[in-house]
Formats: sequence, C-alpha cells, structure tokens
Amino acid sequence: MHSLSVDGSTSRRMALAHLGASALGLAFMNSSLFAHETENDPRSSRLQNFSEGSRALLRQVLGDPSFSGCIPASAVAALAQSEKTSADKLMLNLLPLAQSYSRAPISNFFVGAIARGASGSLYLGANIEIPGQCLGFAVHAEQSALANAYMNSEQSVNSLAVIGGAPCGHCRQFLEEISPAGEILILIPNQSPTKLASILPSAFGPAALGATQGALPIRKANLSLMDTASDALSTAALEAACRSYAPYSQSPAGVAVGTSGGRIFQGCYIENVAFNPSLSPLQTALVQLIAAGQAYSMISAVTLVELQGAKISQRAVTETVLAALAPQLKLNVVLARA
Ligand code: THU
Ligand code: ZN
Repeated sequence: MHSLSVDGSTSRRMALAHLGASALGLAFMNSSLFAHETENDPRSSRLQNFSEGSRALLRQVLGDPSFSGCIPASAVAALAQSEKTSADKLMLNLLPLAQSYSRAPISNFFVGAIARGASGSLYLGANIEIPGQCLGFAVHAEQSALANAYMNSEQSVNSLAVIGGAPCGHCRQFLEEISPAGEILILIPNQSPTKLASILPSAFGPAALGATQGALPIRKANLSLMDTASDALSTAALEAACRSYAPYSQSPAGVAVGTSGGRIFQGCYIENVAFNPSLSPLQTALVQLIAAGQAYSMISAVTLVELQGAKISQRAVTETVLAALAPQLKLNVVLARA
C-alpha cells in the first residue's frame, strides 16, 4: 500500500482516492490497534516512510491499551529526533496514519488531520460520517483532531496539519472558536504555513455573541447529578458535562460511552458561535472511541448528562446517532443541576 505522498504534487482528492481502497478496509477494523501487529497490518503500512526505530516507538504508543489518538509530547520529541526532522514535518508525515482512522461510508472520502497542543503532544483526527444519517452529523477530520486536543485538556492548539488541501469553511469556523486570535498555524504539505487569520478574514468570532474567550483553555463548571445514585458512566458523563463549552446556549452536556472491552470514552459538548459547526457530546465521544481503534459494535452503554431545564437538549440528536450505530441500545439520560 501506497502511503500518501506528502510532497503536495497530488491534489487532496486524487491522493485520497488513491488511498481509498485500503482505508475502506480499515473502516471496518474492529480489533484494538496493533493487537496482532505484523508488518502486513494495513495501519503499519501507513508508517512505511518512517525508520524502523520510529515505527517501533509508534507501535508502542498506538498499542497502549489506553490510546485514543494522543501521541504524548515525550514520544513526539523522540520521534522528531529519530526522524531527524522538525515537529511540523513530523505532523505532515503522520497524516496518512491519522487518515487511516477515517469512517466515511457515505462519501468514501478519507480525510486525516493532526493538531499540536501547547504541551507538544499531537492529536490524530479523521472524518466520521454516521451511516444512513444526515450529512450534518459528520465530524470533519480537523474537528476530530481539535476535539481530541480539547478532551486532553490542552491549554491551546498551536498548529493543525491537514492532508492535501486547506481546511474547508466549516473547519475554519470551528478553528476560530479554538483560536479566536487567529494565531493557529495551518500546515499543508508543500505549502508555506499560514495562520488561520489569513485564511479566515473578517471572522465571525466568539466576541460576536459576547463571549470573551474561545473554547480553550477549558473552564470547569460545577454541576452535580440530581440523583445521588451514580454509576461509572454517569460519573464520567457528569465530568464531561462540567468540562463542556456552552457559552451560547448555557446548556452544558457530556456523554460517556462504555464498551464491551471495559473502556469508557468521554465526550464534551463543544459549541461554536456560528452554531452549526458545534460538536455534540456524542460526536466528541465517538472521536475518542474511533481514535482508540474501537468498532461501533463494541459500544455497550451510553449515558448523557445535561442540565435540568436548560435552553437546549442533546437528547434527540444523541438518540438518533446512537440508533444508527447501536440500534439495540437505549440512551440513558441523567439530569444535573448547577
Ligand atoms: N471533510 C473533512 O474532514 N474536512 C474538510 O475540511 C473537508 C471535508 C470531510 C467531511 C465529509 O466526511 C467528507 O470529507 C466529504 O465532505
Ligand atoms: Zn472541514
């Protein structure tokens, strides 16, 4: 398999079409990443441009049982050293790996992105389309990488690498919420890095609706469950709700997805000043689950925590998306008070 050329000579569409067949296979992979590692593993082939030492390090990071898309700063530094390259170039070289997580059953258009947080850690992201559901439920690769950085409590995001082309308008708007000063650097193979501000002039930013800062760093709200009896999922969903970003609706919400393998993936609701690019808490949790290489069939229970009497509710959208992915499950909704 043909790792994506990062020399920019191919267009995004051509490059992605080239990768399409193998990525489609990956979309249905349900084993934990590198659990049965061989050099023939399709995900391994995304690393073929790396030295053997770097590949071994990456396998170790990706094979960690708690992995969900974060390459820690220490591993990033070690990789940059072993590849004798800059962090920016490393991000570009890792894009085919990020892309391999794409689940795009509607478009068959597989996109990968990588965000770098202020901590120096890297976050993988890929696009997610919900089978049979409205296109508006899709998560773009850029949103996915940024949501991963958010879930890992990054103070800010410094740069974002995207395969083959510039982020679309929807992603630029989502980026604006993460970096309202427009300082975030966009890295595209074979192009000079550009700041968000230069590709999103006259931005409609958080200040338009009176927000004084963007989504990062996370400000924690103090919510508690109405019902004193709680289980692991409602506790995790409450924690995600406390860390959610809902300055426009004042309706914090969080999700926890439990798997048959015993893992719990949290998802925070992340609003956008332009409303539509907002990520629902289940979308954010799916970003984590997919980055961990887990199949939808592994989902065993889902709990949504939201504020009682809030202006808006995530219940309907969460039930709809869950019904498309795990029709046998009933969403558990737990209310919280401020
Ligand atoms: N897509 C991205 O992930 N990022 C972009 O900036 C452009 C579009 C995804 C969304 C959808 O899953 C597919 O590509 C087709 O638009
Ligand atoms: Zn986009």
